[in-house]
Amino acid sequence: MKKLIPALLLAISLPALADRLPLPADTPASYRAECGSCHLPYPPSLLASGDWRRLLSGLDTHFGSDASLNAEERQAIAAFLARHAGSLSRLGDAGNPPRISQTARFVRHHREVPARFWRDPRVKSAANCEACHRGAANGHFGEHDIAIPELRE
Ligand code: HEC
Ligand code: HEC
Repeated sequence: MKKLIPALLLAISLPALADRLPLPADTPASYRAECGSCHLPYPPSLLASGDWRRLLSGLDTHFGSDASLNAEERQAIAAFLARHAGSLSRLGDAGNPPRISQTARFVRHHREVPARFWRDPRVKSAANCEACHRGAANGHFGEHDIAIPELRE
């Protein structure tokens, strides 16, 4: 019985887990300030630790931008991302350079988004989470928080 209770709680909370991805309480201020200056400071659980490591090793040529950090910030952010990374087997391959939007998990969750919306002028790129998820900055990715009316069910 003692063992059953945590399993049961997990099962009950699973549906909520998928659409609530708030930044963890120990998120370094530099993660929001630096990694959130050009796009959403992405939820760390959406890439595996190896992919975060690969991404951080090429910040000077980061998708055509220079996103370099000083050594201290880089170390704090690397440790934070490693602590909260997702599991590769659940996320799937992220490509190279790694993209959240290329993982099988992302593709599965967005199966119902017609292809034309990824290039819609309101969206521009799959990396632009907030264009559709208006509560993304607060970790809300549920179906009730979709900004594009045609994508709301
Ligand atoms: C100077 C601007 C800038 C900074 C700073 C920056 N990025 Fe990016 N990032 C970009 C651009 C541009 C892209 C590509 C966006 C696109 O494809 O539309 C990107 C893409 C990404 C992606 C892939 C998104 C996808 O498609 O799934 C990840 C992950 C990412 N950045 C993480 C980070 C992290 C972690 C940091 C902090 C260490 C960071 N970024 C800092 C500009 C920046
Ligand atoms: C073109 C619009 C669009 C963009 C851009 C977009 N999404 Fe989504 N996303 C959706 C829609 C629509 C759903 C399905 C909502 C539903 O029915 O649950 C969804 C679902 C999700 C879910 C699952 C929510 C659940 O209920 O289980 C997550 C997590 C998610 N998106 C994260 C992201 C992240 C992170 C990004 C950026 C890297 C992103 N999305 C970019 C439209 C978008």
